[in-house]
Amino acid sequence: MCGIIGYIGKRQAYPILIKGLQRLEYRGYDSAGIALLDNDLLNVYKAKGKVSDLVRFAEQQDVNGTIGIAHTRWATHGEPNQINAHPHCSQSEELAIIHNGIIENYAVLKESLIKHGYTFQSQTDTEVLVQLIDYVKKSNNVDLTKAVQLALNQVVGAYAIAVIEKGNPDVIVAARKGSPLVVGIGDGEFFLASDATPIVEYTNKVVYIGDEEIVTLKRGEDIKIKTIADVVKTPEIQRLELTLSQLEKGGYPHFMLKEIFEQPKTLSDSMRGRLNLEEKEIKLSGFIDNKEKFLNAKRIIITACGTSWHAGLIGKYAIEEFCRIPVEVEYSSEFRYRKPVIHGDDLVIAISQSGETADTLAAVELAKSHGAFIFGICNVVGSSIPRNTNSGCYTHAGPEIGVASTKAFTAQVTVLTMLALLIGKEKGTLSVERYKEIVSELGNIPQKMRSLLDQNDMIAQFAKTFTYAQNFIYLGRGYNYPVALEGALKLKEISYIHAEGYPAAEMKHGPIALISQEMPVVVIAPSAGMYEKVVSNIQEIKARKGRIISIVTEGDTVVTNLSDYYISIPDTEECLVPLLAAIPLQLMAYHIAVVKGCNVDQPRNLAKSVTVE
Ligand code: AGP
Ligand code: GLU
Repeated sequence: MCGIIGYIGKRQAYPILIKGLQRLEYRGYDSAGIALLDNDLLNVYKAKGKVSDLVRFAEQQDVNGTIGIAHTRWATHGEPNQINAHPHCSQSEELAIIHNGIIENYAVLKESLIKHGYTFQSQTDTEVLVQLIDYVKKSNNVDLTKAVQLALNQVVGAYAIAVIEKGNPDVIVAARKGSPLVVGIGDGEFFLASDATPIVEYTNKVVYIGDEEIVTLKRGEDIKIKTIADVVKTPEIQRLELTLSQLEKGGYPHFMLKEIFEQPKTLSDSMRGRLNLEEKEIKLSGFIDNKEKFLNAKRIIITACGTSWHAGLIGKYAIEEFCRIPVEVEYSSEFRYRKPVIHGDDLVIAISQSGETADTLAAVELAKSHGAFIFGICNVVGSSIPRNTNSGCYTHAGPEIGVASTKAFTAQVTVLTMLALLIGKEKGTLSVERYKEIVSELGNIPQKMRSLLDQNDMIAQFAKTFTYAQNFIYLGRGYNYPVALEGALKLKEISYIHAEGYPAAEMKHGPIALISQEMPVVVIAPSAGMYEKVVSNIQEIKARKGRIISIVTEGDTVVTNLSDYYISIPDTEECLVPLLAAIPLQLMAYHIAVVKGCNVDQPRNLAKSVTVE
């Protein structure tokens, strides 16, 4: 949700922390703050708004110090303002904390601290935690690490925290449960962050902190980890594969546009080493190692949120068609709380770009506790979900910085399609001939995407026409129904235009009442699939003077004649149409949002990584 960063070493901490915050700003961005220790001074600066607002303020102040922590907030407790921004200090002004997550029992803790004479300045749960650490430290006369450990034993909730102490400029103590935390190990210096993006330019040696672990980063010493229950852990140093250029905009005005244009490449990356076009074969190690689990599964449950949930729906269509295994697609937030029936022979697939979504992580834990086998489809290597699943497959789409998911979505659909084809072939529910035909066509998709991206200027032109609209409807059938949902989500999250996705035939059961000449209707109407039926749905809209924007197959004459605007996509297999149809919808949402002057990469109220439930 929010981004946290810390530094201790030989260099000045301020520039490293600010740059880190900028790299993490996509995670959450309603306020930001920094705390620096300079010998006996603890300087804390905070600002409402963006990291640039913090910089404007902090640059006028004393920013000396070789140790510090910083935060960009996505408010859960208390409105986004300067007082509620992190770091929060203890009343004694001796401790400063940054926190990502939620302290669920903060009210009870706060009440008891008030009884002990503590007063509070902010409305946050985080301030309660720093006061608790202060109280525990003083009443038990222990060092910072021990105080953090004792305090966290009283806490219910999710957190990644980092704490520093005035008069103790040689130590950062950090801990996590639920929210992500990674330590970068440099030469006589440590970096600490919510994910590896701000660390990569300094070191490629990282340690992912586990749940309920406390880490002590002390100048001149090795990293030390122990659990909240006081068990000493040996740090496992891993090598980062991320490169700096993967994190830059590369000449595009926004990360989102860059990421849309990267899709031919990211799709190839998703298939690299897995799709053998000469032999028309798919090889997925996560499948091979656990083949029996897939072939014997009585049911597959897919759990995810947002865009990943839409990819899951497409996965359901493919798995049911090719493997004849019933598939349920569940919102993780519902699944985890609604006492679902889960059997030991169920296979659960958890999909997540970030690999950190709190609800999906909890859904994984729940399914695991029922003995189900869990397969993860995630993008961020080393993130929490892949580390908590039995097996899985990375999407390899590279870092996705734009809050609106684009390339991660098509990579998820690609992995799910490869998985469905492979299970189907191995089970014998998909003929080898069809399998090879689709495998071969999957290999053509990156090239077909490339030709589709050439229509960007045309889409940018007609997008201008639709910025007046207050509402949009997106329609599709079969594999393209989830694409309609995804198209609508893209538009609403970045342009703030209300949009709904519907199965095309369901329109006459309600939403048709909305159709008028004011109402743009986006229809995905490729020749593969239920073409004639979609044409009838379009006629129904036309009869009510709706304005039609269609996605059609190249060469179409019927739907194009009925449409106000159309975008042609190359012909392909029905199950692969979503990979192509998604692109014009992403571009359309992008251009409408740009013309409306919206902040495309960091839309209001949203965060890239939803690490709180
Ligand atoms: C996508 O555009 C959204 N911002 C959001 O719905 C996202 O897909 C959702 O939060 C799930 O995230 P995850 O894939 O990282 O789990
Ligand atoms: N719960 C804390 C707050 O509201 C932390 C939120 C975050 O993760 O940014 O300040």
